[in-house]
Amino acid sequence: MVKIGSIEVGKYPLLLAPMEDVSDPPFRILCKEQGADVVYTEFISSEGLIRSAAKSMEKLDIYDEERPVGIQIFGNEIESMRISAQIVEQAQPEILDINYGCPVNKVACKGAGAGILLDIDKMESLTREIVNSTSLPVTVKTRLGWDEKTIRIVEVALRLQDAGIKALSIHGRTRAQMYKGEADWTLIQEAASHPDIEIPIFGNGDVDTPEKAAEMRRLYPDVKGIMIGRASIGNPWIFNQVKHYLNTGEHLAEPSVVEKVDICRRHLMMSVRWKEEYVGIREMRRHYPAYFRGVPGFKPLRMQLVTSESLQEILDTLSYIEEAYGDQEEVASRQVAEKIMKVEAIRTRPQVKKKLQIPVRSEG
Ligand SMILES: Cc1cc2nc3c(=O)[nH]c(=O)nc-3n(C[C@H](O)[C@H](O)[C@H](O)COP(=O)(O)O)c2cc1C
Repeated sequence: MVKIGSIEVGKYPLLLAPMEDVSDPPFRILCKEQGADVVYTEFISSEGLIRSAAKSMEKLDIYDEERPVGIQIFGNEIESMRISAQIVEQAQPEILDINYGCPVNKVACKGAGAGILLDIDKMESLTREIVNSTSLPVTVKTRLGWDEKTIRIVEVALRLQDAGIKALSIHGRTRAQMYKGEADWTLIQEAASHPDIEIPIFGNGDVDTPEKAAEMRRLYPDVKGIMIGRASIGNPWIFNQVKHYLNTGEHLAEPSVVEKVDICRRHLMMSVRWKEEYVGIREMRRHYPAYFRGVPGFKPLRMQLVTSESLQEILDTLSYIEEAYGDQEEVASRQVAEKIMKVEAIRTRPQVKKKLQIPVRSEG
């Protein structure tokens, strides 16, 4: 059983990655429901938290249905990070996560996020301060290094463990790579297999199918679990699909359009309840294309979903999709059933023919 501090998170945990503007409470609840073992909030600015900025404070909202949950913070000032850790503790998550991986200029170039990979001494002392200022287990999410010349991930893992963190998630890219190229898990394995490493190390980057997850587990056996980001967008059931495949070697069926509509509708309703109608409707717009990717002839309906201003209109469109595509699915499955019957008939036909032909021949 893998543990983050004293929290048991499963034999081979699947974690929902922190994602700005995506990993909000409705999405986290759905991912939890669909098999994620641990979920993380998007990153929250420590400067925003200490100013009690409304936008940052609202990101602290967590719900029982999503536990265990980690709240992620970022910043480069020791004092702001220390105070933020205490604010986070009051929100009562299970875990406090520090972001040392964000590559965007406005964060990394100020020495926060992945920027701190250029100053590992500061990374270690900042982490130690945070660990000492909270009773929550502290975890870190980071990248392999700033660029390929500065990869010191094994040393980073050892020093962060020494500073007191309870788990480390590593995205297998450098800051310079942003999201380009392929994530390199061999370096994640190198850190995870170091004889002095005792904390769980989770691998992150490019896992988007059950097969890929199985391959990562096979190739990198000391990595204790997988963090999934982009592949969960519009696809929260990926956690159950991966889990089922890892446990049985068999695939769970892809949800039908009717099932997708059901999850999407609940996502919408939770967003509207959480953020109020105006914002909830707008925040859901980024999810519809992903929920219905690959559904034939969907373009006009997608346009309707992403431009509609009225909740009722969106709900009506979803009901329409359910009816239109649900019927198609029924028709499709009827066609499949008919095809199977035809195949059965074809298989049995030669015998029938034989029986029929014998008397014909003998008559002739
Ligand atoms: C839209 C988006 C927002 C992200 N926001 C965050 C964030 O707030 N904190 C963080 O640590 N990583 C963030 N990431 C990085 C992801 O957590 C993850 O490391 C990355 O997407 C690679 O994993 P994947 O290939 O499974 O998507 C974000 C990624 C995306 C695509």
